[in-house]
Amino acid sequence: MEILLTTSPEKAAAIIRNGGIVAFPTETVYGLGANVFDPEAIARIFTAKTRPADNPLIAHVSTIDQIKELATEIPESARLFIQEFFPGPLTLVLKKADPVPYAATASLDTIGVRMPRNTLARDFLLSCGTPVVAPSANLSGRPSPTTWQAVYEDLKGRIDCILQGEPTEIGLESTVVDCTADQPTVLRLGAVTIAQLCEIVQETRSNTEFEVEKPKSPGVKHRHYSPDALVVIVSEIYSIPFLKNSAFVGIHDPKIQFDKKLIVESVDEYARGIFEFFRECDRSGIETIFCESVVDFGLGSALMDRLRRAVER
Ligand code: TXA
Ligand code: MG
Repeated sequence: MEILLTTSPEKAAAIIRNGGIVAFPTETVYGLGANVFDPEAIARIFTAKTRPADNPLIAHVSTIDQIKELATEIPESARLFIQEFFPGPLTLVLKKADPVPYAATASLDTIGVRMPRNTLARDFLLSCGTPVVAPSANLSGRPSPTTWQAVYEDLKGRIDCILQGEPTEIGLESTVVDCTADQPTVLRLGAVTIAQLCEIVQETRSNTEFEVEKPKSPGVKHRHYSPDALVVIVSEIYSIPFLKNSAFVGIHDPKIQFDKKLIVESVDEYARGIFEFFRECDRSGIETIFCESVVDFGLGSALMDRLRRAVER
């Protein structure tokens, strides 16, 4: 399959309108988009990513009005979150409207909705003229892509177009909040923190505090964010053993020899760089990646969540 690499949001949007699938940048990670009302194009997303069929997609809008095409009702909590955090790195799960095909929601009666704030994403979505469903633009199970080159590495030959933008600003996927029940529930941690959400709707809770038999966000049960290398989280950096083909990422420099090392100045920089660092390590045959833990607070909680998922396999 020929792939169009372009910096033109209009050219990329024309492909969506013609039933194609297009990778595009957002402030979180790159997404792989299709028209939400085109089940055939949506099916191609699942094939291209080898994504499990039970994992629903997030619909991306360019205007608040478009949310009404997707959701039957906007509860008070969602209305407040929209007012405060849209556009931005937050996804709200709402009851889906009838015209939204089950292909987009993996047969659920709910749909995730998000309005990105990245300017190229917004120009692209405006030009599409329809909401665009998009999972992260990686092969299923690989770290999410934060550069267009990472999308190309995973999906060349499988998709129609990449809208080439800058490396992404945040580097972790959006916060996902279920607003379909009385009490909003955080299903996935991201750059919009639980503390920020609680400031707007006090009773917001995190599902990680509860034992859930069947995960409400189907995506969280799948293997995710993992490099091929073994990931080890360390809090005591001076106790790291010397291993061949090993790498280190963290805020403090352990001052021993690694084949690859990334020292960051802040949690923000850590989050922005972690997925690309994982990919770099895989490209150079690293076998073990030591990741320094950070304080489990704010964006640090989202980063620790991704590191823990990368450890599981
Ligand atoms: O930042 C992001 O959210 C990126 C960019 C491209 O917008 N997208 C992204 O999509 O990370 P994806 O498909 O990799 O992750 C979507 C997450 C999954 O955990 C999925 O299960 C959950 O959102 N999700 C989507 N729709 C849902 C629904 N109706 N109910 C519960 N969870 C849902
Ligand atoms: Mg993903």
